[in-house]
Amino acid sequence: MKSDAVDISADARIPRHVGIIMDGNGRWATSRHLPRAAGHRAGVKNIEPIVECMLDRGVRCVTVFAFSTENGGRPVSEVKSLFALFRKQILPLVKKLVVRGARVVFSGERESLPDDVVKLMTEAETLGDGNDKTVNIAFNYGSRAEIVRACKLAAASGEITERSIERGLYTADLPELDMIVRTGGEKRLSNFLLYQAAYGELFFTDTLWPDFSAAEACDMLDEFAKRTRRFGKV
Ligand code: FPP
Repeated sequence: MKSDAVDISADARIPRHVGIIMDGNGRWATSRHLPRAAGHRAGVKNIEPIVECMLDRGVRCVTVFAFSTENGGRPVSEVKSLFALFRKQILPLVKKLVVRGARVVFSGERESLPDDVVKLMTEAETLGDGNDKTVNIAFNYGSRAEIVRACKLAAASGEITERSIERGLYTADLPELDMIVRTGGEKRLSNFLLYQAAYGELFFTDTLWPDFSAAEACDMLDEFAKRTRRFGKV
């Protein structure tokens, strides 16, 4: 770190890593008599302004839940539209995030994804080389499967400890998860970053993801700064 730079990560009032469950796209579209795919399109548009607001406030890493392994069980037409959206929007989105000083990485199982989607991910991951902030896109991601994978890697290394399991998580190189936001009114984690969420502060809002604003995100960051975190101690 340069000597004149402020180490924002040292300020406990700012979360180092925020995870976002972007829920409510379908309801947003249905309430406007639009197809669900239109809700997902609006959802993608909202990623950059929210991430920008978080990074501007000193957050070093944001993980967004874009596609869960369970989402693969939705009607074929919806899954197809989500993949089409990914193919069309991922590079434009990543380019905008790179301008904001972030690199992009992906968490999730790639082996079962179409080759062209994996190729786009690999390309996207190179665009922000050298940037010190991170946007982690959880795509074809499920936390239980991630934990099983990490345990297998730990067992193969001959050492099963919290550290060795953490080294096998997709988030191994990312800061500690401090805050989880879920939009859309439900109050659950839905197989998102379960291991990493151990001491994460939870934030829920009824606002549907496409309507979630930078102002509301800032309010949550303000509330985070006021919370007392004890990590199990007195
Ligand atoms: C939840 O809304 C949202 C999803 C299942 C998908 C979120 C995906 C994106 C915003 C697009 C990702 C694409 C890129 C390029 C990163 P829901 O459909 O469950 O909404 P509902 O609860 O109102 O039905």
